[in-house]
Amino acid sequence: MTYHPRSPSWIVVSVGGLVAFLIFASWVLLSYSPIGASVHEYFHRVDNFEELDLSVSQINETSIDVNLNERLNLINETSNPTMSSSLSTDTNTEHNDTTSNSHCDLYHGNWIHDPSGPLYTNNSCPVLTQMQNCQGNGRPDKDYENWRWKPFKCDLPRFDPKKFLELMRGKTLAFIGDSVARNQMESMLCILWQVEVPKNRGNRNMLRYYFRSTSVMIVRIWSSWLVKVTSEPFGFAPAGVDKLHLDAPDEKLMEYIPTFDVIVLSSGHWFAKQSVYILNNEIVGGQLWWPDKSQPMKVNNIEAYQISVETILTAFLTHPNYTGLTILRTYSPDHYEGGAWNTGGSCTGKVKPLTIEHKVKNEFTDIMHEKQINGFNLAIKKARNRSKLRLMDITDAFQYRHDGHPGPYRSPDPNKITKPGPDGRAPPQDCLHWCMPGPVDTWNELVFETIRREYNSQR
Ligand SMILES: *[C@@H]1O[C@H](CO)[C@@H](O)[C@H](O)[C@H]1NC(C)=O
Ligand SMILES: *[C@@H]1O[C@H](CO)[C@@H](O)[C@H](O)[C@H]1NC(C)=O
Ligand SMILES: *[C@@H]1O[C@H](CO)[C@@H](O)[C@H](O)[C@H]1NC(C)=O
Ligand SMILES: *[C@@H]1O[C@H](CO)[C@@H](O)[C@H](O)[C@H]1NC(C)=O
Ligand SMILES: *[C@@H]1O[C@H](CO)[C@@H](O)[C@H](O)[C@H]1NC(C)=O
Ligand SMILES: *[C@@H]1O[C@H](CO)[C@@H](O)[C@H](O)[C@H]1NC(C)=O
Repeated sequence: MTYHPRSPSWIVVSVGGLVAFLIFASWVLLSYSPIGASVHEYFHRVDNFEELDLSVSQINETSIDVNLNERLNLINETSNPTMSSSLSTDTNTEHNDTTSNSHCDLYHGNWIHDPSGPLYTNNSCPVLTQMQNCQGNGRPDKDYENWRWKPFKCDLPRFDPKKFLELMRGKTLAFIGDSVARNQMESMLCILWQVEVPKNRGNRNMLRYYFRSTSVMIVRIWSSWLVKVTSEPFGFAPAGVDKLHLDAPDEKLMEYIPTFDVIVLSSGHWFAKQSVYILNNEIVGGQLWWPDKSQPMKVNNIEAYQISVETILTAFLTHPNYTGLTILRTYSPDHYEGGAWNTGGSCTGKVKPLTIEHKVKNEFTDIMHEKQINGFNLAIKKARNRSKLRLMDITDAFQYRHDGHPGPYRSPDPNKITKPGPDGRAPPQDCLHWCMPGPVDTWNELVFETIRREYNSQR
């Protein structure tokens, strides 16, 4: 589960992609039965399985206890009208402010249909992960590519790659986090690729792409939880189970941050995976791991998430040699409906964003979002200088985009199952990552706008 800097990154990518594909294929062959230990072990033997898909790797139905089932019951079908109140309050205000309005709230708005289409296509971007290549994998509908996020009080400009490279001249932008961070980094690369093919300058520690025209570097570092992870036995926790040191940042990434000018951070989904939580050198809890059920845990996975966010942000803000801008992207909502990722949940057939009236409350997303914001606020309180930290609060806006996920279109296999079986059960699917092109590209428009505002305010 940790980042293993062993092989050159291009090998990592292709091996990772191949492995993920093979695992997915074998999962389909096993037709919905839980992945056996052999497959599970196989992951652990792979040098770097960063490309592995969370929803596949997590399959272990025997270990899902009732409590977790609740926490992972990702969709609560009860539509909750109160959720929309915060979004509708601004509708009567004026709409003619321009993008020069640097104080406009970018995260309250709505999705509007925009026939100008996506910023790239699956054919014009050679670096997108096959599992997110929805069109290349045969997804029949395409209109999910034609929606723009419109903040109520201003416009979010369409991404202009040339302007972005100019703004970032000589600088390095790093995406740090899990597979959703990878999703966002690839979207950024695809967008920029349309004006310049970058040079791959990846090394054993990170993926790096260099844009010669402006000396801009785009980097990705894998870190599942953003905090330190060990696997050696610790106290009563045996070897093999990942141990998260909630009060220590992931030291493998801390080493590199002084060289970054902008960091986009994301995490969250791995807190559903099995792990042990350690705080102040003491085991305080675990996820899918807690041998003595008679003892209460001090920290569950949701609280662990908050602590981890506070830890990594505090480490960034207090680092003596890091002067960059940190953007915390909030929890990316998933859309498994009618079940969870492992119990027949589905997002198949969603071809349009939800409307406010039909937006569905997702309690797990909401609590993860809340805990992440708490962690963000605690870090700001601890740090001397808050000027370098920004929140990119996309969670609510993306709750509407149940149409933006690959669903069953995760591989080009012509024989993949895309329709429910005779028992009505949905085929295995990805309702967590985002199609490319697709709504994920909006995140990079938000990154652009956030950086633009920051740099303008410094002039
Ligand atoms: C699944 O969970 C059970 C109970 O926690 C555990 O004994 C078993 O080793 C797990 N299997 C895999 C493949 O992780
Ligand atoms: C779904 O949400 C409603 C309203 O918030 C709540 O009363 C209900 O308990 C929730 N159900 C589940 C299964 O979480
Ligand atoms: C737009 O701007 C103009 C001039 O600043 C102002 O008079 C008007 O009320 C604003 N709002 C709308 C909706 O036109
Ligand atoms: C891109 O998608 C189209 C379908 O829209 C498909 O025909 C084509 O093969 C795909 N190309 C790649 C490289 O995936
Ligand atoms: C910060 O930079 C100085 C000078 O290069 C170096 O001595 C110090 O070890 C660095 N501190 C950290 C925490 O990286
Ligand atoms: C915070 O940092 C900014 C830019 O790095 C600097 O201009 C400002 O004076 C700092 N504020 C405090 C309170 O240290």
